[in-house]
Amino acid sequence: MHESGSYDSYRLSQPGPNGWPVPSDPQAVPHPRTGTGFAVGPTIPIPAVSQAMDQSPALSPGEPHSGGSYSAGDIASAEETVSAGDRVSAEYTASADGRMSPAPRPHAPAGTPEKEVVVSRETEDPPLAQEAKRAVEILNPSGEITMPRPVRRRIICVANQKGGVGKTTTAVNIAVALALHGNRVLVIDLDPQGNASTGLNVPHHAGVPDVYDCLIEGAPLVDVTQPVDGIPNLSCIPATIDLAGAEIELVSVVARESRLARAIQACPVEYDYIFVDCPPSLGLLTVNALVAAQEVLIPIQCEYYALEGVQALTSNIALVRSHLNPTLDISTVLLTMYDRRTRLADLVEQDVRNHFGDKVLNAVIPRNVRVSEAPSYSQSVMTYDPGSRGAMSYFEAAQEIAERGARVREAGA
Ligand SMILES: Nc1ncnc2c1ncn2[C@@H]1O[C@H](COP(=O)(O)OP(=O)(O)OP(=O)(O)O)[C@@H](O)[C@H]1O
Ligand SMILES: [Mg+2]
Repeated sequence: MHESGSYDSYRLSQPGPNGWPVPSDPQAVPHPRTGTGFAVGPTIPIPAVSQAMDQSPALSPGEPHSGGSYSAGDIASAEETVSAGDRVSAEYTASADGRMSPAPRPHAPAGTPEKEVVVSRETEDPPLAQEAKRAVEILNPSGEITMPRPVRRRIICVANQKGGVGKTTTAVNIAVALALHGNRVLVIDLDPQGNASTGLNVPHHAGVPDVYDCLIEGAPLVDVTQPVDGIPNLSCIPATIDLAGAEIELVSVVARESRLARAIQACPVEYDYIFVDCPPSLGLLTVNALVAAQEVLIPIQCEYYALEGVQALTSNIALVRSHLNPTLDISTVLLTMYDRRTRLADLVEQDVRNHFGDKVLNAVIPRNVRVSEAPSYSQSVMTYDPGSRGAMSYFEAAQEIAERGARVREAGA
C-alpha cells in the first residue's frame, strides 16, 4: 500500500499498475471472502519509470513519494554518480552525460534516442528465462563464482520495523541471485503491501491463495506456493490484501506466534533458503517470522535515523529468543542505499560496523536508480539490469551469505 499519492500521481500517466487497486476496473469482482471490496483484473503493464518521470510536468525535485525516503532529485544525481570506471559489463555503454545504459540492441537504428531504446526493450525482450540466463552470464561471466548450497535449510527473516529501508528489495534480489546459482529458494511475502509478490511478478490480487490462508486457515504451504516465472528453483508465497486483517485476526488464534513456524515445519518441499519479507512493524506478523526463522537479516539504510529503530528491533529479537525461539540469531546486517558522495553514509557505515561487527556484510548496496526501476517491470534488478551497480552489489551480498552458510557447514563437519 503506497501511503502517499504524490509519487503515484507523477509516476503513472495512466491508472492500473501491476496489482494496485483500480476501483473502476470493469473486471473488478467482489472480494471472494468478505463479499465487499473488489478484486483487480489481470496485470496491466505500466510505463518505464524513467519515461513517466521524463513526461511528468508535476514532478519537482525533492518531492516526497511513497515507499522510500529519497527524492526524484536524488535519483537523477545518483545516476550521475555512475562513472565509466564502475564495474559494469561490456554490454553497457556510457552516454555523453556519463550515464550507463544498455548498449542499443541490433535492431535499433544508429542514433536512436535513449528513450526509444527503453520502449523497444518492452516490446522485443526475449523470454524471461533468457533474461535470467543473460543475467548469470553478465554477473558471473567466467562461472567461477559459486553459491554453495547450505547443508540444511536456512530460514532467514528480513526484518526492520523502519519503513522503506530495502527489506523487500533485499529479500527479492538475494533470493533471485541464490536461485540463479542453483539454490532452491522460497520467498514468503509476509507484508500486506505485497511488494515482494509484485517484484517477483507473482499474482497477488484478492482471491489468490496466499500466506493469510496458512496463518489463519491452517492451509498447507504447498497449496499457496507459486513458481516464479523465468527463475528456475525460485518460488513465492504471495501476500494479498487479506493479510491486512491478519494482524488482528491472529490475536484470537491458537498458538498465534507460531502459525508460520508450524506451516514451514509441515512443508515437505526441500528448500535451501526460505526468505520471509516482513512488514515495517513489530506486530504479530513479524513475530511469526521471527519464531519461524533461524536467522535475521537486517537491512539498514545509510541515513541519519537508521540506527534509532534498530534498538527496538534487537530487543524484540531478544524477547523472541528468550521465550519462543532460542536458536534465533541476527546473522546478517546489510547496508542499503549507500550514497558514496555523502560523509553521512560513511559515518552510518562506521556506526553499524562498530555495533554489529562481522555480522555486517562487506558488500554494501548503493543507491541506484535501476534497483528502484526494476519492480515497475515486475522484475528483480538481477534480471532487469544485471550490469548495474545495484545488481552487482546484491550479487556480492548473496555470495557472502552463501559462503557464510558453507563455513557453518565446514565448522559443523
Ligand atoms: N539500492 C536502492 N537504490 C535505489 N532505490 C532503492 C534501493 N533499494 C530500495 N530502493 C527503493 O526504495 C523503496 C523502498 O524499498 P523497499 O520496498 O525494498 O523497502 P522496504 O523496507 O521493504 O519498505 P517497507 O517497509 O514499506 O516494506 C522502493 O521504492 C525501492 O525500489
Ligand atoms: Mg517491504
